Amino acid sequence: MDGNGRWARRRGLSRHEGHRRGKDSVRAVVEAARELGIPYLTLFAFTTENWQRPTTEVSFLMSLLHRYLLTETKRLMKRDVRVVAVGDVERLPPRVRDALRQTIETTKSNRSMTLAMALSYGGRQDIVSAARKIARAAAAGEIDPETIDEHMIAASLDTGDIPDPDLWIRTSGEIRISNCFLFQLAYTELYFTETLWPDFRERELLTALAAYQARERRYGAIADPADQRLRAQN
Ligand code: IPE
Ligand code: MG
Repeated sequence: MDGNGRWARRRGLSRHEGHRRGKDSVRAVVEAARELGIPYLTLFAFTTENWQRPTTEVSFLMSLLHRYLLTETKRLMKRDVRVVAVGDVERLPPRVRDALRQTIETTKSNRSMTLAMALSYGGRQDIVSAARKIARAAAAGEIDPETIDEHMIAASLDTGDIPDPDLWIRTSGEIRISNCFLFQLAYTELYFTETLWPDFRERELLTALAAYQARERRYGAIADPADQRLRAQN
């Protein structure tokens, strides 16, 4: 989710206004994804690097997040959405952490969609902590280093029980990953749009999904040969 600040600046508004509008996009996209039957949705709400922003902006984002958790939990319950968090949530202010824990606890039996909130998340940091976990187990003699494989690393990440994303969307015209999921994006389809996050709503989500549907995912292999023959004939 990127472009809240630019959305506001273009209108002569404060960055806070942009974040406030961005919160409405969160609701719109979460509910649209749920309607569409998307089983997992991850929102990159706050990255490890975002802590470097001025404290007034960080506090404002934290208070928005706090309010979101308090007001949205009921709506998420109604829609059978389960909330999980990825990232170093211990760094969040205590009241935000408590609200987050409460939302996770309240929604834990919901099954129609999993909403993963990336909070104080960094892709490299996630890999580092997975490496530590595995190294500890190896040092304790619980695992043989030779048995470490992709699955063990994937399972040791914060996203251990979330499948790799099929589609990754970045708004606001930036064409980079910015330390979001790194290991997990190996075969993900990437989609970049100029739309600023506060303007990204159901319509833009559908456009992104249509672009995704037009992609051919080969995972490094070649397309089905029968398929290629057909295409050559046409
Ligand atoms: C994304 O919008 C919101 C968060 C990172 C929380 P930005 O705040 O990054 O907006 P720009 O990039 O300044 O436009
Ligand atoms: Mg930005």
